[in-house]
Amino acid sequence: MTLSPDTTADTAASLGFPSGFLWGAATAAYQVEGAVREGGRTPSIWDTFSHTPGKVAEDQTGDVACDHYHRYRDDVALMAELGLGAYRFSVSWPRVQPNGRGPASQPGLDFYRSLTDELLAAGITPVVTLYHWDLPQELEDAGGWPSRDTAPRFADYTGLVAEALGDRVELWTTLNEPWCSAFLGYGSGVHAPGRTDPVDALRAAHHLNLAHGLATQALRSALPGRARVSVSLNAAVVRARTDSAADRDAARRIDALATRVFTGPMLHGRYDEDLLADTAGLTDWSFVRDGDTDTAHQPLDGICLNYYTPTVVSAAPEGTEPERRDGHGASAHSPWPAADRVSFHQLPGKRTAMGWSIDPRGLTELLLRFRYEAPGTPLYVSENGAAYPDTADADGTFHDPDRIAYVRSHLQAVHRAIREGADVRGYFVWSLLDNFEWAWGYDKRFGIVHVDYASQRRTPKSSAAWYGRLASSGVLPQ
Ligand code: NOJ
Repeated sequence: MTLSPDTTADTAASLGFPSGFLWGAATAAYQVEGAVREGGRTPSIWDTFSHTPGKVAEDQTGDVACDHYHRYRDDVALMAELGLGAYRFSVSWPRVQPNGRGPASQPGLDFYRSLTDELLAAGITPVVTLYHWDLPQELEDAGGWPSRDTAPRFADYTGLVAEALGDRVELWTTLNEPWCSAFLGYGSGVHAPGRTDPVDALRAAHHLNLAHGLATQALRSALPGRARVSVSLNAAVVRARTDSAADRDAARRIDALATRVFTGPMLHGRYDEDLLADTAGLTDWSFVRDGDTDTAHQPLDGICLNYYTPTVVSAAPEGTEPERRDGHGASAHSPWPAADRVSFHQLPGKRTAMGWSIDPRGLTELLLRFRYEAPGTPLYVSENGAAYPDTADADGTFHDPDRIAYVRSHLQAVHRAIREGADVRGYFVWSLLDNFEWAWGYDKRFGIVHVDYASQRRTPKSSAAWYGRLASSGVLPQ
């Protein structure tokens, strides 16, 4: 079934979205839960990484984070009060399967069962991400994502979660931003586990593709006809800085390494020739076995896209130092294997607190690209939002007009994509709460709800009220 925009609700003053459109907010386990030693949970790679001095700003950790593990009832009540229709959260692998293999932990599963029960009772649709970067440390010790065995381990874990939550959850996402897991985790090392080998990064990417395929099969066999399966990609909107052949070639290379390395196998059952050729000096890709790309290529019920900013590139003249920046933190190593001769740029104009340029047009382009790449597959914006240095007014309220402007302009971009034929079924603002922003720690605040980490007090910012009204009405005032 194709949803069409509820154009009857479009007026000169407002834009209507399709009926049934999911208006949600998103979080991820390690960024919000805390309670890292409770209920039998074991360390994930992010526990180890954040406890390694110098890896995270101010050596902050997710030990407590937003204490969502203990406060989820209040957090769900707050979402309901705001009027949100959906909540995308992730399941922590080491909380539900502490050794990364073997039996499930009952307290771990109970936590997610209670969370989904609360959501359903409040009329909020749960959307579950199975992997948002917190690999059990034990599996990293056994080789991590560069090791093939991690893929079947992920499928087993998926089966456990499917069994426990399958009666309550319909919409599933296998992996969140596998690019970050592979290339920031094993390439530049700015994310856990902090390894820096370009070939390991490519091996990790392949095993994540395989893991996605195996997990999709596991969901379908545990929940026949019921699971709607998707993957969340931070597919890059790559722009060449000029129209020169060299800059366009730099854009092609980065598109292959950022996006097609995943969409190739997942959506088309192959790795593109140009990707294999560009990386041939590093590896012959012999870690790809017969049948792997077919396994990765499973029919999907949705594609979830995370979008924040475009990636603007140019060819670096010979002799320039290889580009190390990637917008995620500093490292002596590049996250881009075999793309040393590419420079990255921000657009002129306003930026968010992450230093990322603001370009809503990129979101329209991204959605339209996937309309053609995966015809007939519903699309979701599974993350979009902005960090700003929010400060309280004298009366303790938080006014964040910049965040409202950011979200509004990106929703206009979503609406435009829908008008041009993209079947977009939902939008999830990142994030519900200020939270642990990975290597950046707690300084970067993405929440529509402010969190005072000392008291754990939640204060909805003006964006929360604004977004809640929008979620309730489905109409974006101009
Ligand atoms: C993408 C990631 O999925 C999320 O965990 C992160 O906090 C946001 N981007 C903002 O960087």
